[in-house]
Amino acid sequence: MGLDYQENYLRNLDFWETAWKRVSKAINKPPDFAYVKNIPSLLNKYNIKSVVDLACGSGWLSFMLAEQGFQVTGVDISESAIKLATQVKKDIYKNQIDAEFLSQDILSMKLDFKVDCAVINACFEHFNRERAVELLKNSLENLKDEAYIYAVFDQVALSDKGEFLELADGTREYKDTYRAGMFLRNYSDEELKEIFQELNLKILSWEIVDNESRSVLVQVSR
Ligand SMILES: C[S@@+](CC[C@H](N)C(=O)[O-])C[C@H]1O[C@@H](n2cnc3c(N)ncnc32)[C@H](O)[C@@H]1O
Repeated sequence: MGLDYQENYLRNLDFWETAWKRVSKAINKPPDFAYVKNIPSLLNKYNIKSVVDLACGSGWLSFMLAEQGFQVTGVDISESAIKLATQVKKDIYKNQIDAEFLSQDILSMKLDFKVDCAVINACFEHFNRERAVELLKNSLENLKDEAYIYAVFDQVALSDKGEFLELADGTREYKDTYRAGMFLRNYSDEELKEIFQELNLKILSWEIVDNESRSVLVQVSR
């Protein structure tokens, strides 16, 4: 069994499916953060037309980008999340919107076509470092030669509350009832820059946004 399907990873995938199963109605409204409103103009500045929204959940960001004219593919491991997104597409948009949804693991995702940009929101910090690097490497496989990755890296405040195990790289695996199997890790600026360098990703834009999150656009250089 390789990196992807070790036991703790399977528990992590179960955590997300269990969490999404509890949700009966998708949140379709984007959160009221300034950075969210700025994403379309940042992507337009680099002539980005097609995006894959990695770990899209029930798809609010995918829909917001599709409404702005981007061709969007939303991918999430949770079938329940994808069902919610598909339902929103049908009920709210009458299927008349350029957003497709797929249930796949973003560490091994394979799209039938290459896109201009991978978008990653509220997701990176739920992977331990080795898998987070895998996530970026795998997105590169699905991007065109001239491409971009846009990501928002949250500042995660790790309090001592709750029960958790600490993995070797400092990632927490939670054990409490509601978070059992969830991973959480804070990525420092230095670490992110190190990872970008390792993967030959050139930083085009790095902004501190709402709640001290880092909103970052990198260019893929092959
Ligand atoms: C905190 S939510 C963020 C959802 C969405 N990006 C947003 O901004 O609201 C994290 C998402 O990552 C998804 N996820 C976790 N591990 C994944 C994996 N290996 N492959 C695909 N999706 C995954 C979960 O199902 C969940 O929808």
